[in-house]
Amino acid sequence: MKQRNRFLKKYPYYDSSLPIEQRIDLLLMRLTLKEKFKLLSGRVFSWWKSSSIYRLKIPSLNMSDGPHGISFHSSFRLMTKFPCSKCLSASWNPHLASNVGAAIAEEAKAIGKQLLLAPGMNIDRTPLNGRTFEYFSEDPFLTKEFAVAYVKGVQSRGVGATIKHFIANNQETNRFTVNVQVDVRTLHEIYLRAFRDVVREADPLVVMGSYNKVNGIYACENKELLQETLFNLWGFKGFVVSDWYATKFLKRPEQAIQAGLSLEMPKAIVYTLKRLKKAFKEGLFSREELDAVVRRFLRVLFRVGLFDEKPRKSFRVKVNSPVHQELAQHVAEEGMVLLKNEGNFLPLNINHIKSVGIFGPFSSKKMGKFLYGGSAAVVPPFEISPKKGIINKVKEHVKIVKKPAEADCCLVFVGISHAKGGDCENFDRPGLSLPKQQNDLILEVVEQNPQTVVVLINGSPITMEPWLEKVPAVLEAWHPGMMGGNAIANVLFGVVNPSGKLPITFPKRLEDSPAHTSPRSYPGSDSVFYEEGIYVGYRHFDKKSIAPLFPFGFGLSYSKFSYKDLLLSSSEIAGSQELDVVVEVTNDSPVAGAEIVQLYVKDDEASIDRPVKELRGFKKVFLNPYETATVNMTLGSSDLEFFDAENFTWRTEPGSFTIFVGPSSRVLPLEGKFEFR
Ligand code: GLC
Repeated sequence: MKQRNRFLKKYPYYDSSLPIEQRIDLLLMRLTLKEKFKLLSGRVFSWWKSSSIYRLKIPSLNMSDGPHGISFHSSFRLMTKFPCSKCLSASWNPHLASNVGAAIAEEAKAIGKQLLLAPGMNIDRTPLNGRTFEYFSEDPFLTKEFAVAYVKGVQSRGVGATIKHFIANNQETNRFTVNVQVDVRTLHEIYLRAFRDVVREADPLVVMGSYNKVNGIYACENKELLQETLFNLWGFKGFVVSDWYATKFLKRPEQAIQAGLSLEMPKAIVYTLKRLKKAFKEGLFSREELDAVVRRFLRVLFRVGLFDEKPRKSFRVKVNSPVHQELAQHVAEEGMVLLKNEGNFLPLNINHIKSVGIFGPFSSKKMGKFLYGGSAAVVPPFEISPKKGIINKVKEHVKIVKKPAEADCCLVFVGISHAKGGDCENFDRPGLSLPKQQNDLILEVVEQNPQTVVVLINGSPITMEPWLEKVPAVLEAWHPGMMGGNAIANVLFGVVNPSGKLPITFPKRLEDSPAHTSPRSYPGSDSVFYEEGIYVGYRHFDKKSIAPLFPFGFGLSYSKFSYKDLLLSSSEIAGSQELDVVVEVTNDSPVAGAEIVQLYVKDDEASIDRPVKELRGFKKVFLNPYETATVNMTLGSSDLEFFDAENFTWRTEPGSFTIFVGPSSRVLPLEGKFEFR
């Protein structure tokens, strides 16, 4: 006891019985100016740690990528490889995001990491973005629902989450320097909206500043975005870290400090001691401004338990536990989207099928390799390929044959790799088509055997015109993670009824996409112009009445569902009143399944241009055969608002609104109207 008292006398901020804000003060007052400067950048010779201060027993904050599991390059460990974020959001089941976040955080904690550099939550503006597989959706509401759940999951384990990349990092082409020119309404209504809601609803500990400029100023020194919006308008209490080397072109430390950048990773470039001392000496920034960014950083160190006298109950989880592997498989199963199923070709009946042919470069391709696809790469201890999964499933019941004509059914596994030009950081895709040899392979197989199913292994939209009409079934399996093969087999053979829906529009052709109207709008050069404004994704396809290949929110099932009896709790709401929306959904089939009921809202009398409809609610309901469920959703005024750039505020105009409810953004059988007063 005496020893503890002596220790706390010297280091009082280690006393976890004191409030955190008081502990921060106790530590801040002890830091010299030079030590504060040192805390502003990463630890020398370490990519994943902040600087430590031995004299005051300030440990390093130890961090790791990424959204799909603990990345090998930031841990040098083989860890559970979860499905990609597109697969996760295609489940439209945010509980899974919470579970995945918690599982990855447990694995982070098990290897002594306190900060996870995830989730990535940028909006899908162009389907060519190399990092589309790492992000949730083209829609801010769906993005927010998943990001909130993911952050809460991660932080429920005492590990910090990092929402990234703030902001408008929507392409990889010229990502380090591109200047995103975007109007204020679009910035708030589309690109900032999910980040705002996550800050308010999930209290993320860290925000990662992006590489790009926004309206002329680099994100990491953008005072309007950080200080004025993130801190002052939204009340963010954590700290801002730069993306790795995102400060490369920053010249003035005072600008980054006054904007609110607390930590420059992986090393000092703009926050070198020399630059900081000179700027401070010249009075370019004040001690108060410096303390403000250091305080934010220290707050997170305290919140993740780095100053706890006794280390927090570390989740004695074995990494790569069967529990985590089962979760990875379950997410893959729930995220798969059945895009086509002519004549109920699927599910395959293992008792009727005597032989199956397995073709395509993705039938046995290993996807979990070092930095493969960039910083989201996870290297698992093993990986169940689609072929392995099929063999695990059919065992000796079904013969695997090599010739398409000899098979009762052919399975062709094609997709997008994580190589440059594929689903890969730092590069965008050259186009939407699969590689020619893959399209040719599908045509060749289906020519020899019309009983052919195409299974897609990808994390971003693709076009399918050469072969789509010729095959009876197409299953979107995304990048399904280390258990993907088992998940695919379970869906193909009907052990699992597919329930995923597209979180992103699949266009018929690239030029139908909103970002692809001119070289200015994509990829741009020094600047890229978001000329489409708020009309991103389905908002654009609706506005221009363009038929997509497969619409946002689309997905088939082995069950059949019907909708009836839409009821609204009132014909009008005012102020903070909420509107209850009730609908009856029935499973009209003998097969248990899950339906994702979607709710879209239209402002019938807006004084400004608004989308035809916007997603404002969804519920995933699991229904037994012939079961009917009553689905309840709620709308509030914040679901009706738009960003009024002139007055720089969110606003809901009084007037009539229409509600649409149905199974996809293009199939909305039920409608209702109400007035907002
Ligand atoms: C990368 C990525 C970011 C990642 C970081 C560390 O460039 O943009 O998402 O967390 O650097 O690897």
